[in-house]
Amino acid sequence: MEQTEMNHQVQMPRIGDDAPTFNAATSQGNISLEDYKGKWLVLFSHPSDFTPVCTTEFVGLQEIYPELKEMNTELLGLSVDSVPSHIAWIRSIEENFNTNIEFPVIADLDKQVAMKYGMIMPGESQVETSRAVFVIDDKQKIRSIIYYPLTTGRNMQEILRLVKALQTTDEHGVSTPADWQEGDKAVVSPPKSQEEAAKRAEEEGIEYIDWYISKKDV
Ligand code: BEZ
Repeated sequence: MEQTEMNHQVQMPRIGDDAPTFNAATSQGNISLEDYKGKWLVLFSHPSDFTPVCTTEFVGLQEIYPELKEMNTELLGLSVDSVPSHIAWIRSIEENFNTNIEFPVIADLDKQVAMKYGMIMPGESQVETSRAVFVIDDKQKIRSIIYYPLTTGRNMQEILRLVKALQTTDEHGVSTPADWQEGDKAVVSPPKSQEEAAKRAEEEGIEYIDWYISKKDV
């Protein structure tokens, strides 16, 4: 099959879409998307078990897992490897890195879930999933998507920051500026009319910079 033909077949969910449903075999038994209703979910893919960059990512993801849980957020991995392969790799990570991987990993042997989520980048690899991260909210909507190539390990602190930023937006109706970290001021929605713009400078409890940019504590 020509690559352009394959690219046309790849489904790519987008931010704001309902997360595609699945029921899949994992390292912890069968899991459905519905099982996560009411929780946030970081669904991520990795290229392959027993590979070095993926191993460092798994150790890093396990390190941030308790903080994610405190944010009502679960982690779910995916690759096209089998359940026995996931089990063997998880055991090897425990042996070599003294790290017990507590989150489940989908064994997507038939690529059903990977295709629904657009995790395979045919131009990069037709057999492995790229490093995709889908942040799915408690109403099962896709809120953010990150893609990294096979050769670059992801930044765990950015995954934490992203979930915190999205939840802060929902809780306080604000946006979060570049490099925002928890505790920093957030951005107030810009005025929607000239009348609102004229009044913005007088508003209490905000750091006014100009009519279109103000910040506040959250
Ligand atoms: C790795 O995890 O080390 C890796 C996996 C696939 C391609 C390149 C690197």
